[in-house]
Amino acid sequence: MTDSVAAPEPVIEVRDLTVHFPVRKGFIGRTVGHVRAVDGVDLAIRPGETLGLVGESGCGKTTLGRSIARILKPTGGEVRYRGPDGTVTDLATLGERALKPFQRQIRVVFQDPFSSLNPRMTLLQIVGEPLRANGIASGSELEHRVAEMLERVGLSPKYMNRYPHAFSGGERQRVNIARALILGPRVVIADEPVSALDVSVRAQILNLLRDLQEELKLTYLFVSHDLSVVENICDRVAVMYLGKIVEVADTAELYSSPRHPYTEALLSAVPRPDPRLRGAGRRIRLADDLPDPANPPPGCYFHTRCPYAVPGVCDIDGHGPVLTGTGPQHDAACLRTSELDLVGVASEPA
Ligand SMILES: Nc1ncnc2c1ncn2[C@@H]1O[C@H](COP(=O)(O)OP(=O)(O)OP(=O)(O)O)[C@@H](O)[C@H]1O
Ligand code: SF4
Ligand SMILES: [Mg+2]
Repeated sequence: MTDSVAAPEPVIEVRDLTVHFPVRKGFIGRTVGHVRAVDGVDLAIRPGETLGLVGESGCGKTTLGRSIARILKPTGGEVRYRGPDGTVTDLATLGERALKPFQRQIRVVFQDPFSSLNPRMTLLQIVGEPLRANGIASGSELEHRVAEMLERVGLSPKYMNRYPHAFSGGERQRVNIARALILGPRVVIADEPVSALDVSVRAQILNLLRDLQEELKLTYLFVSHDLSVVENICDRVAVMYLGKIVEVADTAELYSSPRHPYTEALLSAVPRPDPRLRGAGRRIRLADDLPDPANPPPGCYFHTRCPYAVPGVCDIDGHGPVLTGTGPQHDAACLRTSELDLVGVASEPA
């Protein structure tokens, strides 16, 4: 894609989004600080695309996804949703009642197909529940719609009166997907949708998600820590570190030419079968664990682990990098991005 081709208007545009969780201590639960799970995120999701969201455990991916779907109320910032008629609404501040119609448009597929399905409800009840709760259908009409949706996700409607325990992990994830899609959403936030599944069924669920996207014209935010899966199914990728987006670009561009040292380190762990490929076999091991998100380091949050950090440049309080354009459709938040020759995982021999 070039600069001259304007990107389509985003269906979701997140601006300076923050989600802070109070840290409580002592007998009376006094608030002694805040976990900055999402810390000033700007992110656009374009209609019909699959945008990958990657980063280490605890960096804020789930919290960001849930606040976009407004399962969780953000502390600050905006979640701008563009409706089919072009009307833009900021969901971040809407009250429960005003939010309802928008919650039908943005649905979440949760990670764990075992704990996310109520074991005391049948498939009919689980998948039909959003229809009932929203007063959209009941009785035989509800049953008809559930049967149709089950068929669409590859499950036989004749099992709709069975309970989740009768199904495998892959089948349960199909139920989860059916529940997410039954209200006809435009945007689906898939939070690690295959990571709890056996490797043998992952491809089937990914193919199903891809087919449904095409059939139903869906937009996906695909949360994952598996960079090989992301490379296969995402159009663009956003990389998150300690509550912030540090890089975002088209998938092929990000994988071949990362502009942020954290992305380079993540990519160095992606297995490449051909050792002649640039970056193959070169593993960057990051020092230490993720810093405490209740007490992030000054300056660039990544400076405590970055192999390219310069003291007196990268660690100055109040002078952390912001996400900036570094090339066509390629943004990164690194003070040294223009000086560094970072290595990706090219598909051509070096
Ligand atoms: N309800 C909560 N109360 C307090 N802290 C929370 C809450 N939910 C998440 N956190 C904290 O916010 C940070 C981000 O968590 P989040 O679950 O969004 O990360 P994640 O990137 O999805 O991680 P994973 O890859 O393990 O799913 C973590 O430090 C986590 O402990
Ligand atoms: S700003 Fe400095 S510490 Fe941060 S990623 Fe860039 S080089 Fe590393
Ligand atoms: Mg998560």
